[in-house]
Amino acid sequence: MSQEINTPKGQLLLRTLAMPADTNANGDIFGGWIMSQLDLAGGILAKEISSGRIVTVSVSSITFKKPVRVGDVVCCYGECTRIGRTSMSIDLEVWVKPVKEHGLEDRFMVCDATFNYVAIDAEGKPRPIQ
Ligand SMILES: CC(C)(COP(=O)(O)OP(=O)(O)OC[C@H]1O[C@@H](n2cnc3c(N)ncnc32)[C@H](O)[C@@H]1OP(=O)(O)O)[C@@H](O)C(=O)NCCC(=O)NCCS
Repeated sequence: MSQEINTPKGQLLLRTLAMPADTNANGDIFGGWIMSQLDLAGGILAKEISSGRIVTVSVSSITFKKPVRVGDVVCCYGECTRIGRTSMSIDLEVWVKPVKEHGLEDRFMVCDATFNYVAIDAEGKPRPIQ
C-alpha cells in the first residue's frame, strides 16, 4: 500500500477504543456508534472554527467501507471544506489500527462522511461565522 493511500485527510480530531458494548448483532461495531464518533469529531472542529456553540444540521454523505472490530483503535480525521455565512461542511474519515497479538497492523480507512454544522447564538439561532 502506498504512503499516499495510507494517509488520512485532515487533522486528527478524536481517538478512542471500540468496546464490546458498542457492537451490533454481528459482533462488529455498530454503525450508529461510528456516526456518533464522527459527529463529535466534526463538532470539535466546527466549534474551533466558529469560536462558539454549534449544532449538527445534516449529514450529506456517509459510507461504511469496512467493519470495525472490538479492540480496534478508532481515529477520526477531518477538514473543513466549506464555510458559509453561518454554516460549515466538514469532510471526515475514520481510520482504525487493529491491535493483534503480535503488535499493531497498518492502519486503514473504514468510513468517510461529510457533516454540516451551523454556528448558533445563546438562543439557538444561526450566528455569522467571523
Ligand atoms: C440548525 C438550525 C439552527 C438552523 O436554523 P434555521 O433557522 O433553519 O437556519 P437557516 O435556514 O437560516 O440556515 C442557516 C444555515 O444552515 C444551512 N442549512 C440549513 N439546512 C441545512 C441542511 N439541511 N444542510 C446543510 N446546511 C443547511 C443554511 O444553508 C444556512 O447556511 P449559511 O448561513 O452558511 O448560508 C436549526 O434548524 C436547528 O436548531 N436544528 C436542530 C439542530 C440540532 O438539534 N442538531 C442535533 C440533532 S441530533
